[in-house]
Amino acid sequence: MSEFFALVPAAGSGSRMGSGLPKQYLALAGQPMIYHALATLCANVDISIVFVVLAPDDEQWHRYDWSRFGDKLQPLFCGGALRAESVLNGLMAAELEPDSWVLVHDAARPCLSQAQLARLISELRDDEVGGILAMPVADTLKRAAAGQRIARTENREGLWQAQTPQMFRTGLLLQALQGARNVTDEAAAVEALGLHPKLVESESTNFKVTYPQDIRLAELLLGSEKK
Ligand code: C5P
Repeated sequence: MSEFFALVPAAGSGSRMGSGLPKQYLALAGQPMIYHALATLCANVDISIVFVVLAPDDEQWHRYDWSRFGDKLQPLFCGGALRAESVLNGLMAAELEPDSWVLVHDAARPCLSQAQLARLISELRDDEVGGILAMPVADTLKRAAAGQRIARTENREGLWQAQTPQMFRTGLLLQALQGARNVTDEAAAVEALGLHPKLVESESTNFKVTYPQDIRLAELLLGSEKK
């Protein structure tokens, strides 16, 4: 039976947050943001090891106490300039069996729930290709023109928003990322091989913290979960 691993790329600078501190370390509900996703992944019984890919010059990681996660959490200081490079470098350093599953999850999605994670694993564990958590687009989509004016309304039929985790076999993901560095998620690299990853329906609570106002929303969600 194949094993499951998680890999969290956390080597970005988070420039859209407008903060000096990299986004993954911003305080959220009394912990650095990344703590919440790591806690959820480490608590999952199917996952053997959770790798975190950090920038080689990361100065923050050692300032926090990660001991409650024990050996299940393994930092790798090999992040790259692009997200895809961080994932590729992390996969190479982790040296996993090609047929093991790897779940790549953004450090900036702190509200991933155990139920969403379990659903992804159970829907994909026998899949040929793998897939991702995602949500059908709910809002009407506008294409912007000059002066921030609407050029036209786009058809949202069949459009989904990609989330993470994105779950693929390690060998396939390595091959895919070696051929496509300039992708914004793992699925896009796999698609470039002509394959069709599965969309596993998720919830909007698993959103990516991107702008300063997102922190409060994530705190509210994490707080209400504990009640
Ligand atoms: O910037 P964005 O929110 O799209 O980043 C998504 C995830 O990818 C974050 O967890 C970020 O730390 C990570 N990342 C990375 N290496 C980079 C850029 C982003 O690990 N060079």
